Amino acid sequence: MIVTIFNNKGGVGKTTTTINLAAALNRMGKRVLLIDMDAQANLTTGLGIDPLTDVELQEKKDITHLLTEPRTTLEKTVVRKRWDNIQLDLVPSHIRLSDMEPTLISTVDIDRVLAKKLKNYHELYDYVFIDPPPSFGKANTISLMASSGILIPTQLAPIRFVHWSM
Ligand SMILES: Nc1ncnc2c1ncn2[C@@H]1O[C@H](COP(=O)(O)OP(=O)(O)OP(=O)(O)O)[C@@H](O)[C@H]1O
Ligand SMILES: [Mg+2]
Repeated sequence: MIVTIFNNKGGVGKTTTTINLAAALNRMGKRVLLIDMDAQANLTTGLGIDPLTDVELQEKKDITHLLTEPRTTLEKTVVRKRWDNIQLDLVPSHIRLSDMEPTLISTVDIDRVLAKKLKNYHELYDYVFIDPPPSFGKANTISLMASSGILIPTQLAPIRFVHWSM
């Protein structure tokens, strides 16, 4: 099952839900892959992985390579994280993803790139969770096109406006 934790509104708990749901499912014996599609890389850092020192400087690949390099397979980008009795696989993100919208838009069939890259790994994982940014950009289209389900965290509190008087 491939699920995007989606809401174009920011700060509603997408990343927090992703990490905790993945950890709970793994504790129940499920094999879980997490894909960080957000240039903020909160999912990556939330798992204690630094996109610079743990990935880039170790010459490992991240989500930007997976999306743009036809020869980069999923397994080349996966970082395994273990703590206590939990084990999660993660495709880390990187801040350079924030600059890549024009590249992604101009790449042929980019919308289905993640769906295609995940195809050979259906047997390896029980759940794949994708954590996209709070927007409707290419990263979100790519995430949704790869997914069989969507989980939408919402925050029901009203926005509070501050009224300034002169
Ligand atoms: N259930 C919750 N109760 C209280 N605070 C929460 C809850 N879930 C998340 N938070 C807090 O809300 C903030 C935003 O959470 P999170 O980063 O998971 O949201 P997000 O939707 O992924 O944000 P973004 O849109 O920036 O990616 C964080 O400080 C997080 O600790
Ligand atoms: Mg987030």
